[in-house]
Amino acid sequence: MEGFSAKWYARQTANDADEFQRTARRIGAHLSGVSRVLEIAPGPGYLAIELVKLSGCRLTGLDISRSFVGIAAENARKAGLHIDFEQGDAADLPFPADQFDFIVCRAAFKNFTQPLAALNEMRRVLKLGGTALIIDLRKDFSKAAVSDYVSGRGTLNAMIIKWIFNTMLKKRAYTREGLAELVSQSEFRQGDIRLDPLGFELWLRKQGS
Ligand SMILES: C[S@@+](CC[C@H](N)C(=O)[O-])C[C@H]1O[C@@H](n2cnc3c(N)ncnc32)[C@H](O)[C@@H]1O
Repeated sequence: MEGFSAKWYARQTANDADEFQRTARRIGAHLSGVSRVLEIAPGPGYLAIELVKLSGCRLTGLDISRSFVGIAAENARKAGLHIDFEQGDAADLPFPADQFDFIVCRAAFKNFTQPLAALNEMRRVLKLGGTALIIDLRKDFSKAAVSDYVSGRGTLNAMIIKWIFNTMLKKRAYTREGLAELVSQSEFRQGDIRLDPLGFELWLRKQGS
């Protein structure tokens, strides 16, 4: 996403502040002020900003979109925070091995063209004992969950978002089985998949090889 569509997405997801804060609180329970955190595909950076506000962690955001890197850096500056947002590909992380205590990736994994490489890269840059959390849409999401998600966004935006969910996003999203198969092929080998009506969380841990 670049240009106009990145700006539109940033405006829409600015409405999800409560959700970003809830997610940050749950992740924050795993972090301290000295934790090194990587957010892969942070988009406009709202979750990254909440995480840094809450925990004081040192966070790096890496996104493939030049527009989003600019939008996220500007959002962090407005929030009075220093967060390093860089451009790069999830499948080829520009970091040495064993750097991060925690990795989070929200609403982006289904878009990755090389998901297996992305999982292996996450494991490579995690410290031993570190955790990665992938949050995304499940393929068999319920219609009611999407209706809940779009409520209060205005008729036109709600229609556009529902259409995007039911076409593009549904096509790319993972089933529980598809995700489990991918994880089993990755260097993580196993993970904990938790489902809710709209999406899944995949918790992965870097254990000794
Ligand atoms: C739907 S947005 C999600 C943004 C943010 N994580 C959120 O929760 O709102 C998907 C993001 O994935 C990024 N992205 C897609 N493919 C990528 C890749 N291969 N490497 C890094 N970022 C990628 C896009 O640029 C975009 O910022």
